[in-house]
Amino acid sequence: MEPSAKVIANRLNESKVNEARVNEPQRLSTLDIELRLLMEAIYLRYSYDFRDYAGASQKRRVVQAVRAFDCKSVSELQARVLHDPDLFMQLLQYLTIPVSEMFRDPSYYACLRQEVIPVLKTYPSLKIWVAGCSTGEEVYSLAILLREEGLLDRTIIYATDINPQSLEKARKGVFPLDRIALYAKNYQEAGGQLDFSSYYTAAYNAALFDRSLCDNVTFADHSLSTDSVFSETHLVTCRNVLIYFNRGLQDRALGLFHESLCHRGFLGLGSKESIDFSDYSQRFEPLQKRERIFRKL
Ligand SMILES: C[S@@+](CC[C@H](N)C(=O)[O-])C[C@H]1O[C@@H](n2cnc3c(N)ncnc32)[C@H](O)[C@@H]1O
Repeated sequence: MEPSAKVIANRLNESKVNEARVNEPQRLSTLDIELRLLMEAIYLRYSYDFRDYAGASQKRRVVQAVRAFDCKSVSELQARVLHDPDLFMQLLQYLTIPVSEMFRDPSYYACLRQEVIPVLKTYPSLKIWVAGCSTGEEVYSLAILLREEGLLDRTIIYATDINPQSLEKARKGVFPLDRIALYAKNYQEAGGQLDFSSYYTAAYNAALFDRSLCDNVTFADHSLSTDSVFSETHLVTCRNVLIYFNRGLQDRALGLFHESLCHRGFLGLGSKESIDFSDYSQRFEPLQKRERIFRKL
């Protein structure tokens, strides 16, 4: 049976309404709008660029900060942060997640020792970039590994981060004593050759790491969102940083790593990070996919 004129007119109206809905810009929640405005304000006022970080985890951290600073909303936090650099520094501790561990994922370090170090040994001098080094645990782990393999003296390490408080801690090389049992276990599992305690002096509740491990380390402020490349590096390690970025910013960072690496240089990422969906997936080959270690093509 043919549909009546009225039915046809209703269908046409319905499809026009649906079309209008499709063309409507996606509605953002008030919280999402406040978050965008906060990140824009931080960028304009302090030049820290958090605008391209992954939404969900950034939202969680800002909501935690709103509570911790006793604000009623993100907008109130924004107004306070704009006028108070000290509060911004405190907020930075929420936005940057300064969490690290020595020899985190021991199998990653074992793979560096077995598969990357033999190639690095063929160079007369080495440059390594530890991007997003946080409080330095990754840098000290790498320095220990390089010393045991006889490479530390001919290696320059650039250890960079955007959080000045983390960099200050990294320079000091003092870590809580209650973490040392875990670090010693990780070190042994990573193929450590000595007694882990030979690398630090214990005092009160802290372990002070051998200062000479950092003789050739430069700790510096550098942002993967806004800054440029390091030249001719043989290894870039950037672990547990890209997971906090959106796709566009991940690609920017991978572009910096690609450009910084020398011919056939190595890239190490965190255990939950991947280059599979990036513009750079064709420009690196996996050396050990499970350990997220890649080689520049
Ligand atoms: C979870 S920690 C990872 C620390 C260390 N790489 C590890 O795996 O143990 C993430 C670090 O990335 C840093 N970070 C965040 N955004 C950054 C950016 N745009 N450029 C450089 N570092 C950044 C943070 O300050 C923080 O220290």
